[in-house]
Amino acid sequence: MEKYVIHGGRRLDGQIKIESSKNAVLPIIAGAILTDEQVVIKNCPKIKDVFAMLDILTYLGAKWSFEDDNLILDSSSIDKCSIPQNLAGELRSSIFMLGALISRFKKAKLYFPGGCDIGLRPIDMHLSALADLGVIISDINGEINCVSNTITGRDICLDFPSVGATENIILASVFAKGKTQIFNSAKEPEIVDLMNFLNSMGAKIYGAGTSTILIEGVSSLHGTEYAPISDRIECGTYLLATAITGGSVQLNNCSAKNISLLVHKLCDNTCKIYIKNDIIHIKSGSIRKNFSFTTGPYPMFPTDLQAQAMALLTVCNGVSVVSENVFEMRFRHIPELIKMGANIIVKGKNAIVTGVDRLNGASVNAYDLRGGAALVLAGLNAEGETVVNNVNHIERGYYQMHKKLSSLGADITRQTF
Ligand code: UD1
Repeated sequence: MEKYVIHGGRRLDGQIKIESSKNAVLPIIAGAILTDEQVVIKNCPKIKDVFAMLDILTYLGAKWSFEDDNLILDSSSIDKCSIPQNLAGELRSSIFMLGALISRFKKAKLYFPGGCDIGLRPIDMHLSALADLGVIISDINGEINCVSNTITGRDICLDFPSVGATENIILASVFAKGKTQIFNSAKEPEIVDLMNFLNSMGAKIYGAGTSTILIEGVSSLHGTEYAPISDRIECGTYLLATAITGGSVQLNNCSAKNISLLVHKLCDNTCKIYIKNDIIHIKSGSIRKNFSFTTGPYPMFPTDLQAQAMALLTVCNGVSVVSENVFEMRFRHIPELIKMGANIIVKGKNAIVTGVDRLNGASVNAYDLRGGAALVLAGLNAEGETVVNNVNHIERGYYQMHKKLSSLGADITRQTF
């Protein structure tokens, strides 16, 4: 069991590098098995979710290694198409293997995926889309069994622009006979990145980033070297960490256009933000002004930054309203923030946050990845000692968060107990 021990009250100052996007890299790793040739993923973050995905590839028979920060993948020796419960249950993104395996081997067996406990997280849209493409699916005691003689391109209309379902349909239809069109597809930048990655292997995918994606089936894909986009959620988290400490920080390797809504909110909050090429410099404002937001599919405010933004709002002047519209159970950080002196009232999907002058240190529990990051931010502000328990959740998606924050002047240590 690992925990972070934080003594709050230090302004963050300095510069750090933002990693490649976790949510781009995970479906890209699944996409890498669509060729026998070598795939190199440059600057792949060495986070726990990436290693959980690589454990699945190892089980299937693939080979991988890191050369510095570059992940080298060789899927030529895959000899299994089923993933056991313990590996599938490690992360939500194991579901991408369903699309990738059915595409390459025309069969796949997988248990329901795991991941953050932030809501029901069904996979009905993934499965009904695969069925539309001609995959025969049975579910025996939680094991999903998929087979298909031919995957045939179709028009698929999603009820909701699900990120994962959009990516799974792309992976499943790369080799389909004919054309597949996805209507009401998700528009997240990570979907554009998956398209660019697969197209660099010879796929014919058009329109990612819009609400209609077209996939023209091809007969094979070749190896590639690909550098995924930078992590907009990690970037947003450190912008918010800087704001909550009244600091001044330069973030390198960013893509500011992918988090423009947060940047605008921080400017409203009186932060000054300078953007040049892939650098974002944030200088906190003298007063912290409240702001409200509603989470939703891109380009709306990302649900993955809701908890961290709420941590900042707990110490802003006035009343803010946070509406969570994507996941039903994404407020588990709120009782923990309240332990630290935050004033938050929950009414259904809305959290009403009344700012206090400063939080106080407490022993709190991370229940999920982003909620855990929010508690770290709260600890950076709080007076006295904050202990954030269960940081394994945080380390699923943040590479060495405690070291990055220490390098910016925070008093934070990682301890095992
Ligand atoms: C992805 C991201 C996650 C982010 C989320 C929303 C990855 C690896 N994870 O998760 O970090 O928080 O997008 O931006 O990229 N739903 C269904 N049926 C389905 C699929 C989804 O009802 O078959 C619902 C979900 O329960 C949720 C909503 O749709 O309420 C959005 O989920 P989705 O966009 O699919 O999120 P994920 O792909 O799981």
